[in-house]
Amino acid sequence: MKIAVLPGDGIGPEIVGEAVRVLEALKRDGLPVETETALIGGAAVDACGDPLPDATLEITRQADAVLLGAVGGPKYDVLPREQRPERGLLRIRKALNVFSNLRPAILYPELAAASSLKPEIVSGLDIMIVRELVGDIYFGEPRGIEVRNGERVGFNTMIYSESEIRRIAHSAFRIAMKRGKRLCSVDKMNVLEATQLWRDVVIEVSAEYPEVELSHMLVDNAAMQLVRNPKQFDVMVTGNMFGDILSDAASMLTGSIGMLPSASLDANGKGLFEPIHGSAPDIAGKGVANPLATILSVAMMLRYSFDRSAEADRIENAVKKVLASGLRTADIYQPGTEKVGTRQMGDAVIAAL
Ligand code: NAI
Ligand code: MG
Repeated sequence: MKIAVLPGDGIGPEIVGEAVRVLEALKRDGLPVETETALIGGAAVDACGDPLPDATLEITRQADAVLLGAVGGPKYDVLPREQRPERGLLRIRKALNVFSNLRPAILYPELAAASSLKPEIVSGLDIMIVRELVGDIYFGEPRGIEVRNGERVGFNTMIYSESEIRRIAHSAFRIAMKRGKRLCSVDKMNVLEATQLWRDVVIEVSAEYPEVELSHMLVDNAAMQLVRNPKQFDVMVTGNMFGDILSDAASMLTGSIGMLPSASLDANGKGLFEPIHGSAPDIAGKGVANPLATILSVAMMLRYSFDRSAEADRIENAVKKVLASGLRTADIYQPGTEKVGTRQMGDAVIAAL
């Protein structure tokens, strides 16, 4: 298992450092893992002026999976768009063609008070949103702003090909097979042809997964249902734009940005794994960042890129145990719990493993 490790900048090196220590602990127990570290984002800009150097791209291409920390910060905001750290992130996602973005929304019982919803609505929440990441209206042509009949007109194109829908559908069905075997496909087929095709193709693909119970929902209703009764869902699959919005809403049901991992997978299950939060420049270098989102991203890597569910479960159970013991980084601290730093949180997870 060759893993490219790209810490990035800001809190990236701190949180990735703890995730790598977790991997090393599993290696001592026999997990055949090798890591190679490379520069991305601000760290790469500082070293060579390019947020995604060729050497980094080469290391990620040869790896079986990529673990990424975070990039960006006010220091780089003066640079032209092409040289900014965030540009390195977009380029690596595109270069690896990781079209299937998995965002779990899990509520840990110990953190229930952090949710914006009532405990009875979110307790036990465990849903997975599968968002198509490299197509849809964000990339469709034609696009632009132009003058027509004496006024400015802005336009974009919502477009999906059959093959693009088919591959994300397969990805979502395979994930549903590993979970509760229920998949809800979200579209707007009542008014948008692109999503009529989406629904047709998802139904065709479903014939290959008879064990998975497939349902369909219009996106406006899905937004309402996520807030009304989110526990009705197991896996949701949707296009890039609807997924962007729904996954942000769903992740915040759990209330804590420092806890949420993500995976972005290509057609062969090779993937890029990263916390959903950014480089948190306000707390970088202070040793207080929450490393759990990154550690949980390692669990997703083991589960989705390497089919190592047992080790993934071990990491997730260790995190639950640490939370149950009352340890909290500052972002999830509540009176009555014990505040710890990044390193101590990593130590606690490794001890719980
Ligand atoms: P952010 O996610 O970096 O921070 C938002 C707030 O959450 C801050 O108060 C921060 O201290 C806190 N926070 C984030 N992660 C945390 C953690 N692990 N533990 C404890 N607290 C945590 O978002 P923000 O401030 O909007 O962006 C900062 C920089 O990060 C920008 O340059 C932005 O472009 C970049 N960014 C990078 C992303 C990535 O690398 N995937 C994603 C989002 C933003
Ligand atoms: Mg978004």
